[in-house]
Amino acid sequence: MTKKTASEKVEEEKIVIDVDEPVSTVEDLPGVGPATAEKLREAGFEELLAIAVMSPVELAEQAELGEAVSAKIIAGAKKMANIGGFVSGTALLDKRRQVQKLTSGASSLDELLGGGFETQAIVEVYGEFGSGKTQIGHQLAVNTILPLEQGGFDGEVFYIDTEDTFRPERISQMAEAVGIDPQDALDRIHVARAYNSAHQILLVDEIKRMSKNIDVKLIIVDSLTSHFSSSSQISRTPWFWSQIRSCRSLMPCGETRRGPLVATSSHTPAHSACTSGSRRGADA
Ligand SMILES: Nc1ncnc2c1ncn2[C@@H]1O[C@H](COP(=O)(O)OP(=O)(O)O)[C@@H](O)[C@H]1O
Ligand SMILES: [Mg+2]
Repeated sequence: MTKKTASEKVEEEKIVIDVDEPVSTVEDLPGVGPATAEKLREAGFEELLAIAVMSPVELAEQAELGEAVSAKIIAGAKKMANIGGFVSGTALLDKRRQVQKLTSGASSLDELLGGGFETQAIVEVYGEFGSGKTQIGHQLAVNTILPLEQGGFDGEVFYIDTEDTFRPERISQMAEAVGIDPQDALDRIHVARAYNSAHQILLVDEIKRMSKNIDVKLIIVDSLTSHFSSSSQISRTPWFWSQIRSCRSLMPCGETRRGPLVATSSHTPAHSACTSGSRRGADA
């Protein structure tokens, strides 16, 4: 059986993912002109909610603004931001029933994760250099292509490679090992090399654009943190927070297509960074 390539799918103009567009932007905030908007964006503040939860001192420091201006911007963001809402336990139970598990290929790891990598979740795989994070990323990419009855999702994969460690040859080896056509596997894994943190964030937007035409079931960012490591206080780097927010913004893709987003990190996971209840941590 010949499967369609991504480009053939684009021609079909089949929309499989709806990505919500933000209603308001930073330019809509009171007292924010083009120069201030640029400062906010440069500091990684794209979303109003991200601004609404800051303190004036923090925002002033990170976006290089005055504290009074920051306080006014935050007050405006609090009024305009979409803060989400409450849902019933029943609705959440319905959502949980739709959760699927992607096999890691290792029964012990699957058992540790309660059956595999959960859909509708951001999963952070962390561990020191050489601990196997990239190998897990490659294996998950291949497993996603497997049919449902073999623990896969019969879907496609986006892979952001920040350390130049993606190896198509390894994908071919792994595909052969699980009994799928290596060429088919490589056709269905879409890889982009991210050259710096800003590029990494742009690629997240590119995934949003491309995923409208591709049946994406898994997104991998390997590694989420390496381009942010030059900072001695990584957890306080605005760009780092921006990347975390960008990853969270991909969650609608994950929920619509019920696919997980897997990010690797050589740092202690920034649990406070992702407050989504669907996020999981897995030590490599
Ligand atoms: N092609 C391969 N075949 C078998 N084992 C490999 C291959 N490539 C890497 N490994 C093993 O996987 C280990 C983990 O590598 P890697 O996943 O790159 O670690 P990390 O991403 O955590 O730094 C390596 O030390 C090596 O032993
Ligand atoms: Mg690696």
